[in-house]
Amino acid sequence: MATANRRTGTSGTGGGRYGTEAEEEDGHATIPLPVTIRPARPDDLPKLEWFGLHTPHREILAGAFRLQERGDGAMILAEVNGFPVGQICIDFLRKRPSGRATLWALRVFQPFRKLGLGVRLVRAAERLVLQRGVPFAELGVDRDNAGVLPFYERLGYEHCGRERGQFLYHTPEGRLVRVAIDQWLLHKRMAEAAKPDIGRGLRLAAE
Ligand SMILES: CC(C)(COP(=O)(O)OP(=O)(O)OC[C@H]1O[C@@H](n2cnc3c(N)ncnc32)[C@H](O)[C@@H]1OP(=O)(O)O)[C@@H](O)C(=O)NCCC(=O)NCCS
Repeated sequence: MATANRRTGTSGTGGGRYGTEAEEEDGHATIPLPVTIRPARPDDLPKLEWFGLHTPHREILAGAFRLQERGDGAMILAEVNGFPVGQICIDFLRKRPSGRATLWALRVFQPFRKLGLGVRLVRAAERLVLQRGVPFAELGVDRDNAGVLPFYERLGYEHCGRERGQFLYHTPEGRLVRVAIDQWLLHKRMAEAAKPDIGRGLRLAAE
């Protein structure tokens, strides 16, 4: 905060765009964090690698985006200051015959967690599932990620099975990676559950 306040030149006045003198002395401040929830665009893809963290997953990111382009999926982002700090994907194709849309790849960049972005992303995804008239939203939670279960349970998801298998992807260097999947399956009935959200105003603005 000290640096920010010096930039405003508000020293001695007790206020300014970047904070107050009291904040400077205390070292703590609460700042506004405008967030936009929107569909991914092509120029988001490099940023979604999060400075190398998800570079090995470039092929998976590209696949999720293609699915959105074809109308068989969605890739929804939480954008802060022009940077995608959160993501959730939907696959409308994989389980369409059983009336399910699969929510997957929910993630929020570490410093932005516990601010409500995860919940907002799931709700935005649910609205799209509802708009499509798909009866259930379904998702898988890795059995070594049990800590996240209460997050989904609070959102109304219920256990509905278990899924095991594997998926394959290539790293940008061309290495084939085989990932074993062992997940709890959770689902939520959209027709009932999403009713309270209708008309609450969040619209995904396509660019
Ligand atoms: C799961 C995740 C997307 C939640 O995002 P978020 O922006 O922090 O979510 P919100 O702020 O909306 O909600 C956070 C709540 O969920 C709880 N939560 C989420 N993941 C949790 C975990 N792994 N362990 C414990 N609590 C968790 C938080 O404790 C918090 O609860 P509180 O409000 O009572 O403190 C984020 O933690 C993440 O990116 N995790 C790594 C990737 C991942 O596990 N994705 C889910 C794959 S199924």
